[in-house]
Amino acid sequence: MEPMDYSGFFSEDVGSFFRSPVREIFKRVDLGSIYSFAGGYPSADTFPLDRMAPLAARVVEKYGAKALQYGGTQGVPELRQVLSDRYGVPLENIQVTTSSQQGIDVCTRILADPGDVVLTACPTYLGALQSFRSYRAEVCSFPLRPAFAQACREAVRSLRAGGRKVAFLYLIPDFQNPSGETLSLEERREIVAMAREEGILIVEDSPYRELRYEGEDIPSLYSLAPERVLHLGSFSKIFAPGLRLGWIFGPPALLDAIYVCKQSLDLCPPVFDQYLAAEFMGSGALDANLRKTVALYRGKRDLMLSLLEANMPAGVRWTHPEGGLFLWLTLPEGFDSVAFYETALSAGVAYVAGSFFGAGANTMRLNFSFMTEDRIRKGLLLLSDLIRQAI
Ligand SMILES: Cc1ncc(COP(=O)(O)O)c(C=O)c1O
Repeated sequence: MEPMDYSGFFSEDVGSFFRSPVREIFKRVDLGSIYSFAGGYPSADTFPLDRMAPLAARVVEKYGAKALQYGGTQGVPELRQVLSDRYGVPLENIQVTTSSQQGIDVCTRILADPGDVVLTACPTYLGALQSFRSYRAEVCSFPLRPAFAQACREAVRSLRAGGRKVAFLYLIPDFQNPSGETLSLEERREIVAMAREEGILIVEDSPYRELRYEGEDIPSLYSLAPERVLHLGSFSKIFAPGLRLGWIFGPPALLDAIYVCKQSLDLCPPVFDQYLAAEFMGSGALDANLRKTVALYRGKRDLMLSLLEANMPAGVRWTHPEGGLFLWLTLPEGFDSVAFYETALSAGVAYVAGSFFGAGANTMRLNFSFMTEDRIRKGLLLLSDLIRQAI
């Protein structure tokens, strides 16, 4: 039989989907067989494997058939209550999501029409760019420093003067993916003041907020401007990404649109997983696990920083993240981290090229959570050697 041509059947949205280059890397290589600084994977050592069987048994005993039934679209009341207690947010401001990636997607779906503009930082999270583009929104991005708020203000004014709608501003204020940067309180205040004066909404994506290894917590954008911020949280980096669970804090009128939107997406977040998360968080076990996770990742970050210092050739710079999972390397002008990737991969080491996040060709993102310290050491020595030979 002739292969059928399906191209005429697709919606226009499909034309703007693009594949994640990061996930393409994972398809090509077995992460266990190379030194991988590529993904944003948590360390398997942080998963509370020994607690899962008793936790699941407790869910079955406590909730019975309810745990396997459909649940409400907003999320099960027990999880919403635990989130409310932990973060001090009223129940009416909480929507549980099937991961924070879904949070980004539903926010875009309710706020952006084709041709509308999403403002963001450059570089920024690839999964968010995929979501914005899939709704045919346009992305307008600026470096976080030196004057992000001012650049956004000017962009809003000139876009509106040209008859364009700004859908929202998307930001990752804590230990940004991919750069590892954190916005200071002053920068947050400036951004909030700009958003209020220009009348725009903010989507604050915060999956790394609780992974802080030094310094003090900085108030979230949501706490500074609850009337105009949709704040996305996730269990992926503080419990387990396989659960696919997250949450949104926001004004009830916006959450109501998300609630209806989610009905057509998945009816409700996974119910069994929500009870697991509610029990894990509510019993204090999440905090205990988080303390271990933070200590483990702090050690890995420190190791990365000292290895970079000792081994990278002159002319290479990197960020000093106060938390999160990523470091950002800037190589000398003219270095092409996309072309260099094949050399690195055939030598057995992987990273993600910065240009995939909208940054210059001479940049790369390095993850430090996934590998053991021993593998980080060997992988970074190898990468430093390869870079030294290439520049
Ligand atoms: C900034 C950011 N937002 C969202 C996500 C998606 O997280 P989740 O597993 O909750 O969908 C990630 C994952 O790496 C991320 O880095």
